[in-house]
Amino acid sequence: MSQLLWWRDAVIYQVYPRSFADADGDGMGDLRGIASRLDHLVELGVDALWMSPFYPSPQHDAGYDVADYRDVDPRFGTLADFDALVAAAKERGLRVVVDLVPNHTSSDHVWFQEALAADSGSHARDRYHFRKGLGVDGELPPNGWQSVFGGPAWTRVPDGEWYLHLFDTSQPDLNWDLAEVRDMFEDVLRFWLDRGVDGFRVDVAHGLIKESGLPDWTAAQVPITSPGAEHRNPPMWDQDGVHDVYRSWRRILDSYPGDRMMVGEAWVAPAERLARYVRPDEMNQAFNFNYLMAPWTAADQREAIESSLAGVEPVGAICTWVLSNHDVVRHASRLGFEPGYSTQGGIGEDDPQPDEALGLRRARAATLLMLSLPGSAYLYQGEEFGLPEHTTLPDTVRQDPTWFRSRHEVRGRDGCRVPIPWEAGAPAYGFGPGGKSWLPQPVDWARFAADSERGVPGSTLSMYTEALRLRRTHGLGGGTVAWNEATDAVDFRNGPVRVITNFGKVPAPLPPGEVLLASGDLAADGTLPPDTTAWLRA
Ligand code: GLC
Repeated sequence: MSQLLWWRDAVIYQVYPRSFADADGDGMGDLRGIASRLDHLVELGVDALWMSPFYPSPQHDAGYDVADYRDVDPRFGTLADFDALVAAAKERGLRVVVDLVPNHTSSDHVWFQEALAADSGSHARDRYHFRKGLGVDGELPPNGWQSVFGGPAWTRVPDGEWYLHLFDTSQPDLNWDLAEVRDMFEDVLRFWLDRGVDGFRVDVAHGLIKESGLPDWTAAQVPITSPGAEHRNPPMWDQDGVHDVYRSWRRILDSYPGDRMMVGEAWVAPAERLARYVRPDEMNQAFNFNYLMAPWTAADQREAIESSLAGVEPVGAICTWVLSNHDVVRHASRLGFEPGYSTQGGIGEDDPQPDEALGLRRARAATLLMLSLPGSAYLYQGEEFGLPEHTTLPDTVRQDPTWFRSRHEVRGRDGCRVPIPWEAGAPAYGFGPGGKSWLPQPVDWARFAADSERGVPGSTLSMYTEALRLRRTHGLGGGTVAWNEATDAVDFRNGPVRVITNFGKVPAPLPPGEVLLASGDLAADGTLPPDTTAWLRA
């Protein structure tokens, strides 16, 4: 791992603490569980782990509702456990990135509790967006903004005022016009930097600043990178003022030794707009959701790659690549539908089900394609086992606020958050002692358990491990993409490696050269089967 600018080509593994590994046996993952499985990450060959929130929280949005930014929720452990985890990671050469949630606090946060107890017009209320309602008695919300999770983005409090929450009622949006709010987060950054973290993933990075006056906007909230969604600049997203915040954070990170980084979760399109978050004095990386959402066709994939690379070029930033995370249907299931079929709202037991074999085949091809691209790649826990979404999760166990706020219309994200399998023969597949798991695991996941795949030639875990090794050896995280023209295939060279993915329905000829790795078996005649990627030294 290069010490300087380590994040430029890093493979960063997302740990979702609830569902990674459970040391205390209560069915919910924890920091000691994560520490106990670090060697898996070392064997896999990633550079860093990013942990979703583990801070004190009532868990109305799985921890993205933070009640205290400077502590660990007892469900996940203690600050001492955190320090021990960071030390154990460093010992193994792994970097640690934590999640920062600045757009909103939990309604349990002391500031919001003070706001509720305070009067209209008070300083305590000014830390959030409290407004009088419309209508004769203020009985209507102040404007028509909708919550991302469904329903109005406003909730009324007993004295008649309303407060803004772009997400759940339990996640009131902060007022970033206030210096006190900015100061608080600068302290939070320092708190975790002092504890040795290498960086931050910034939640809802495009949302902190709202257009002044909160002008009306009634369109439903869809990620603005949704296929078909034209770029608009709604008053709650991607306001110019957010960039000042990241500039000030950059200065703080740069005042620390080492090379500390920030990656933004900004659902912003087009790529040129997203590039503004990664100008030299702002963040280092932004998630590339355009790429994640690109349909599985040669033309769409090439277009997504080209526009992503072109988007960051003028600002001199690197691209990132991602296929799965805790908010989307896992790519092994998403790709089990025909291109164009939307899984954006999740998958329920009475929905059409993905073709599992096809999904896994394409997921492996997609991963091999992604890991050959210059820049930094993000992996989501379990994808290295080829883990599918839990697509038949009973609705009765769902916990995602999306499911409730959409009045049971949108299934939401629980299906990608199920505790992952480690040991085929153990209760809860070795997730934790005692066999508990906060969401039920499918009955047929033994085949995806780490110990079913470790060291097995051709297993998805072996493919990931070998891909990460070759990526490093051949410098694929750096380099440039040089395209070859192809029909129904994506075909390019990055340094010494030629990468070909066959999106067609029939086998494609392979050029001469040594096949370094392929996402599936080649045909007996040496051709590349459909939905397969090969890396060649040619
Ligand atoms: C981000 C998180 C998501 C969360 C939301 C609100 O999109 O990734 O899980 O629900 O922010 O904090």
